[in-house]
This record gives sequence, structure tokens and C-alpha cells, in this order.
Amino acid sequence: GEKTMAHVVAEPCVACKFTDCVAVCPVDCFHEGVNFLAIDPDTCIDCGLCVPECPTEAIFAEDDLPDKWSEYTEINAKYAAEWPVIDAQKSPLPEAEDMKEVEAKREMLDPNAFQG
Ligand code: SF4
Ligand code: F3S
Repeated sequence: GEKTMAHVVAEPCVACKFTDCVAVCPVDCFHEGVNFLAIDPDTCIDCGLCVPECPTEAIFAEDDLPDKWSEYTEINAKYAAEWPVIDAQKSPLPEAEDMKEVEAKREMLDPNAFQG
């Protein structure tokens, strides 16, 4: 049948990018922006392995995505198509620990692809 959902990275990832999620994903569906990761909804197999790994609790099954972050479904699809795959864990952003508890980070989401 047609695939209808996927897991979604939401706002708590912004400006943190811990990347623990990448280490466990069996299908390499994370894509890397400057300060955020996006899941390719066409590749994600909904295994859920990444959810408990994220230190900021940024990842949700689409059905569990809080309403306040509903736009992140489209944000993931859009940027996953534009950004390169990240298939190995790396160091978090330098400000990650400070930004972990900060709310309303939408305006900080950098639309640019990470340039290795
Ligand atoms: Fe990868 Fe599974 Fe997380 Fe989807 S749910 S992004 S397949 S680890
Ligand atoms: Fe972001 Fe959490 Fe992964 S902060 S990079 S979704 S581990």
C-alpha cells in the first residue's frame, strides 16, 4: 500500500543538532542543514529507533506531532529534498546545551544546506 506517514524532526532540534538520531537510523533518511536535521518521509520506515535517542525530544511519529509544530511535517519534506544525507553522528553545535531548553526557535531555523 501507499506509505502515508513518517517520523518528523520538530523545533527542539533547531540550533542543537545533537545527531544521536543519525547513529541509529537503519535507512539513512536524515538530511543535514546548518542547524537542523530533516527526515526524508519517503525513506523513513517508521521504526521509531531515533525517538528515544534525541536529547531534546525533537522527533515524533507524525501522528504524535504536537499541533504547535504541525508545520514541521512540510519542513522535513521540503528540506530533506534539498539537503545532503548525514549518515554518521558528529559533534553537536557548540551552543547545543544552551539552546536545548529554549522555546520558539522557528525563526532561527537556517534554510541552507550544511556545507561539509
Ligand atoms: Fe530513521 Fe527509524 Fe527514525 Fe525513520 S523512525 S528517521 S527510519 S530511525
Ligand atoms: Fe536534532 Fe535530536 Fe537528532 S537534536 S540532530 S533530532 S538527536
